[in-house]
Amino acid sequence: MTLNLGDLAPDFTAHTADGERRFHEWLGTSWGVLFSHPADFTPVCTTELGAVARLRDQFAARATKVAAISVDPATAHRAWSADIAETQGAEVDFPLIADPDRRVATLYGMIHPHHDDTATVRAVFIIGPDKKIKLTLAYPASTGRHFGEILRVLDSLQLTAAHQLATPADWQMGEDVIITPAVSNEEAARRFPHHRAIKP
Ligand code: BEZ
Repeated sequence: MTLNLGDLAPDFTAHTADGERRFHEWLGTSWGVLFSHPADFTPVCTTELGAVARLRDQFAARATKVAAISVDPATAHRAWSADIAETQGAEVDFPLIADPDRRVATLYGMIHPHHDDTATVRAVFIIGPDKKIKLTLAYPASTGRHFGEILRVLDSLQLTAAHQLATPADWQMGEDVIITPAVSNEEAARRFPHHRAIKP
């Protein structure tokens, strides 16, 4: 299945390292990041899980819940958590979803058969409080993701949701933003009186 931006993120019930979870119920009114990795106990995946665990406060500051998923069973996830804590210096305190029958991976199109016909790629889904998909990414197994970029996209998405603003190339929080075409010139003058018009 291909999921597009704006689609409802499919709901599911699955085992995690800490018991059964219903995805939408667990998300509640938070933003969410669901990211898949090819296999437990592999080096790139281990660094990724450690990186996300170390960014715990950054995700919390953005009212965002994070969940990881692979086709390994919950028993492997539990053992791997201890390994991540030992080697990466951070406790995994977010759900590790077990998907041995590939049900969730299939729902989200996380298996790209011409890349690997059994394991999930490094997919990322950012989900809004409305449960709609706001971003999709797919990285190959050999490339660890840059989670600073995921935080940057969350900042941009949250700015758009709250203020109808867009963000330019390579934008970082605190830099200039763009008033979207959805805002009329009159409204822009009222809401953002100090804005700079580069072109009408
Ligand atoms: C890794 O996590 O190290 C990895 C997993 C699958 C393929 C290549 C690398």
